[in-house]
Amino acid sequence: MSTPVKRYTVTAALPYANGPKHIGHLAGAYIPADVYVRYLRLRQRDVIFVCGSDEHGTAIPNQALKENTTPRAIIDKYHALIRDSFRELGISFDVYHRTSEPLHHETSQEFFLALHHKGLLTEETSEQFFDAQANAFLADRYIIGTCPRCGHPDAFGDQCEKCGSTLSPAELINPRSTLSGQTPVLRPTRHWYLPLQNYEPWLREWILKDHAHDWKPNVYGQCKSWIDAGLQPRAMTRDLDWGIHVPLPDAAGKVLYVWFDAPIGYISATRALFQELSSGTRQFATPQRDFGAVQPDDWKTYWEADDTQLVHFIGKDNIVFHCIIFPIMLHASQRFIVPTNVPANEFMNLEGNKMSTSRGWSIEMHEYLTDFPGKPDILRYALLTNLPETKDSEFTWKDFQAKNNNELVAIFGNFVNRALVLTQKFFANMVPPRGPATPVDEHALAAIAAAPAAIAAAIEAFRFREATAALLDLARTGNKYLADTEPWKVARHDLPRVGTILHIALQIAANLALVAEPFLPFSAQKLRSMLRLQPHPWTAAGSDTLLPAGHELGLAELLFEKIEDPIIDKQIKKLMDTQNAPTPAPVVAPLKPEIVFDDFTKLDLRVGTVTAASRMEKSDKLLRLTIDDGLQARTILSGIAKHYTPEQLVGQHVTFIANLAPRKMMGIESQGMVLMAEDGDGKLRLLQPDHPVRPGATIS
Ligand code: 2FM
Ligand code: ZN
Repeated sequence: MSTPVKRYTVTAALPYANGPKHIGHLAGAYIPADVYVRYLRLRQRDVIFVCGSDEHGTAIPNQALKENTTPRAIIDKYHALIRDSFRELGISFDVYHRTSEPLHHETSQEFFLALHHKGLLTEETSEQFFDAQANAFLADRYIIGTCPRCGHPDAFGDQCEKCGSTLSPAELINPRSTLSGQTPVLRPTRHWYLPLQNYEPWLREWILKDHAHDWKPNVYGQCKSWIDAGLQPRAMTRDLDWGIHVPLPDAAGKVLYVWFDAPIGYISATRALFQELSSGTRQFATPQRDFGAVQPDDWKTYWEADDTQLVHFIGKDNIVFHCIIFPIMLHASQRFIVPTNVPANEFMNLEGNKMSTSRGWSIEMHEYLTDFPGKPDILRYALLTNLPETKDSEFTWKDFQAKNNNELVAIFGNFVNRALVLTQKFFANMVPPRGPATPVDEHALAAIAAAPAAIAAAIEAFRFREATAALLDLARTGNKYLADTEPWKVARHDLPRVGTILHIALQIAANLALVAEPFLPFSAQKLRSMLRLQPHPWTAAGSDTLLPAGHELGLAELLFEKIEDPIIDKQIKKLMDTQNAPTPAPVVAPLKPEIVFDDFTKLDLRVGTVTAASRMEKSDKLLRLTIDDGLQARTILSGIAKHYTPEQLVGQHVTFIANLAPRKMMGIESQGMVLMAEDGDGKLRLLQPDHPVRPGATIS
């Protein structure tokens, strides 16, 4: 039995304030979240939309080192840049907070203490590398040394980027600190852990049973892999000097783990919103809705009441934190609700490659806004029609141009423009009266009536691509209606009939203005003023009387403009230019010493099928694969977690060494080795037969 929903708390991942954010981030979380929230507002639901900057973690001091400045300067600079870009793109947060704010420090510390006082955190001491000169414990990435497997002199504490091996800092030969270059020493350090494993039965019930059908398969699958791999205690504190101090007397030099404090940032942001509302000091002043008179404590219902739906919009790299760790924290608190849904998206690539700000292969939000001033809706539309909802998607400038020219301009804009210009020409800019309806009219009227439900159903199911397609379908209906009825020709002999056609066309345009608002808020507003249409709630959509006969229209303007080739070519060139820095020639490994045929025949190489795959706790490199080798299900641990998700591997053919002596890693015996090709860029690719073959097929 589900509780009727009274209100919604919608969150979008707090971006790290360590650099500008790109359009892949928009496609991952912010655009779908914004469409969802705008739709709920139109439905007059009680909804808050919270976000803010994630200003802790090693990412911030790292960036400060790169820019030769302070962490504070970094967060101040990028917080403002990201916040302003969101605003200009119409991302209609009710609040955009910061995790560096005292209110957030207080909220996080209270949360930590509440768990601590309940005895839910365990204290454990472990040995970690310490840099005596820098007087700091070192995160894995701050330690480099010689790889024990391939001899690469600059392997990181968690991975050798040359041979791909997963490492722990203690395995490195001649480890040294990246902070001082000195040899670090092992020192015991104490931390507070959240014993995730204690919550496994609850997670199984809550996610694997209760959300088996309403969560997206990519999200559900990742959660299942994590739970099935076995959860381990996870440290909720770190030895760092940048972050929120652990609020205990014996915890000098310790801060809260960034993934402990960041999601609590959603709660702090909600508190901040209600403080701002009650004191009349709104910061992110998107006047989206009238909250009426509120009290500072009113934030609580949005996090504590069972009839609140909590929905987290995130990218796929954040799934474990939002579906496992943060929900465990919320559940353990015995105070807060847990998310109803976490509609995470996959990644959006750019022109064939992974988007990356540091490699320059990205389109940053603020750069888009500079290069395409006043055109946020085109980007919103191009992203919405191409969201990575079920698998990674691809943004190309040519597709962006085509979406604008062939859909927004040629269909949506063209239809609206013709309806308005013809009304101006034949009816002095007044909505003409409607006469008897013909079958073609009935068809158009039926499309008006059906569109809102189709769009709404898709939005409510988090299928935003489908919702956007349904929106365009309504515009397409309008365009086709005018093409079929040809009012410009009918005008020569039957003006009343033209009146009927334009009356219906204008009702379609008015409906478009209403239902396009979540997707294209700026254009919807422009269209509303061209039609002089008052704001309406979503429930008015589908009506064929939004504009009464005799209603005077406003000034017709072009809703969208064509983008010519040179503009797009310039963008493509700009992107390619970032790659002009000479790329190192691909390193081809030197040949190994010659072997004889008998050496080769000693290898038992086979093809198998992956039947299960899961991540390994404590390793972000290894995946645990179960492989059907025709005889049995064998377990192989493979260092490919950075290159494939478990979900991508299930069902795939792989080639593997079947007679390699078993080796135990992290307590699990690996029975063989999956063969991979390593490209010059460090990417690992599976070697697969080019046709399906039976499991166990030998390779010779
Ligand atoms: O991946 C990221 O960019 C994180 N800063 C997201 C944090 S989401 C939430 F937990 F705040
Ligand atoms: Zn190596």
